[in-house]
Amino acid sequence: MKTFKPKSWMLPQPVLIIGTYNEDGTPNAMNAAWGGQWDAKEIVISMGAHATTQNLNRCGEFTVAFATVDTMIASDFVGIVSAKNTPDKMQKTGWTAVKSDSVNAPIFTDFPMTLSCRIKEKIDESAEGYYIVAEIIDIAADEKYLCTDGNPDVEKMQLITYNPIQHTYIALGKTVGNAFSDGKKLK
Ligand SMILES: Cc1cc2nc3c(=O)[nH]c(=O)nc-3n(C[C@H](O)[C@H](O)[C@H](O)COP(=O)(O)O)c2cc1C
Repeated sequence: MKTFKPKSWMLPQPVLIIGTYNEDGTPNAMNAAWGGQWDAKEIVISMGAHATTQNLNRCGEFTVAFATVDTMIASDFVGIVSAKNTPDKMQKTGWTAVKSDSVNAPIFTDFPMTLSCRIKEKIDESAEGYYIVAEIIDIAADEKYLCTDGNPDVEKMQLITYNPIQHTYIALGKTVGNAFSDGKKLK
């Protein structure tokens, strides 16, 4: 085994698209890989000091969409360009924004599934940012990604994961097993 110094190599990492409203009411989006489920109905996100952070300081509501193969280029773009100095940032993505029914934040309809969230707690707040713990208020899924049981079908979504070692995006593949079930074969 080769040993490496500590790095942000937790695998696999998501490609989260955080949607907020700017001060003038226009939508903004940023890319975040450092986030995940915190509790049954709560998520956590490590937030730096961005235009999104300023938006969240005004209104603690936001959306989280999951980037896909089709949205990959624009999802990377919103992670390397800031609304602080690029006023037409969102026009360049070509995404369509509608207001979430449950929170004051935009849903980008180009994504299969979006969480509407409200900040519950900010941890270690400083000029560099903070860790958000947020409640999931509801989840919107495009009907064309639903399976026969009515739930969103993850396999249909063509989600991507961020690879923090080679700095690439990798498409998620096919279902290979059943959780809480296949392991029973070894019981
Ligand atoms: C792959 C990738 C992952 C990123 N992950 C995070 C993250 O977890 N937290 C964070 O604060 N910024 C993250 N960023 C940086 C922000 O997305 C970036 O600074 C963005 O331009 C902020 O936009 P805004 O200033 O318009 O809000 C990431 C960027 C990329 C490309």
